[in-house]
Amino acid sequence: MDLLKKNRICPVERAGGLDNTIRRWLQTPHKILQPYVHTGMTVLDLGCGPGFFSLEMGRLVGHSGRIIAADVQQGMLTKVQKKIRGTDLEDRITLHQCGQDRIGIAGPVDFVLAFYMLHEVPRQDALFGEMTTILKIGGKMLIVEPPLHVSRQEFGKTLEIARGAGFAVMDGPKILFGRTAILTNSQEV
Ligand SMILES: C[S@@+](CC[C@H](N)C(=O)[O-])C[C@H]1O[C@@H](n2cnc3c(N)ncnc32)[C@H](O)[C@@H]1O
Repeated sequence: MDLLKKNRICPVERAGGLDNTIRRWLQTPHKILQPYVHTGMTVLDLGCGPGFFSLEMGRLVGHSGRIIAADVQQGMLTKVQKKIRGTDLEDRITLHQCGQDRIGIAGPVDFVLAFYMLHEVPRQDALFGEMTTILKIGGKMLIVEPPLHVSRQEFGKTLEIARGAGFAVMDGPKILFGRTAILTNSQEV
């Protein structure tokens, strides 16, 4: 598939490596998300893959909240759909297929997670530009990139692009196997 080769996109066949017991132990979704995701929020899981974080987000926002699980690959969304079908989470998790160069979501959302996805995006400037219109002013985005695929220098470049789009950048939380940052949409602040 062209899209996979060109952008180094994680194929659906490798989704099992993203949702398993060992990862749950090393990168526990509840522990990572609970400082940021609260009851009633609208949250975007950008590049959700097989939903390792989306399901826990759904539990944290409760009945009054909403999760948008978004991915460029329909195969990943199908995996999320199978996990939530017939559960309480089905009503609060909306699946969305992004375009290759466009997220395509109408905001505002309160919080965004982009976990291990930005290095797969060729036009990060376009993504951050669009994100300023999706994330509410003052809203936060947690970005996490894999140190084995993304050097410190490359991560620094990503942060520069985010600043250029209008985000304030702060150090992120400590996450095993993660380079992290918290971005705040400060377009009009
Ligand atoms: C390595 S996986 C990580 C999945 C998930 N965030 C996790 O940590 O388990 C990266 C995901 O980002 C998706 N992705 C890549 N480029 C994207 C884009 N431009 N828009 C939306 N999703 C994208 C891929 O299809 C893949 O499912």
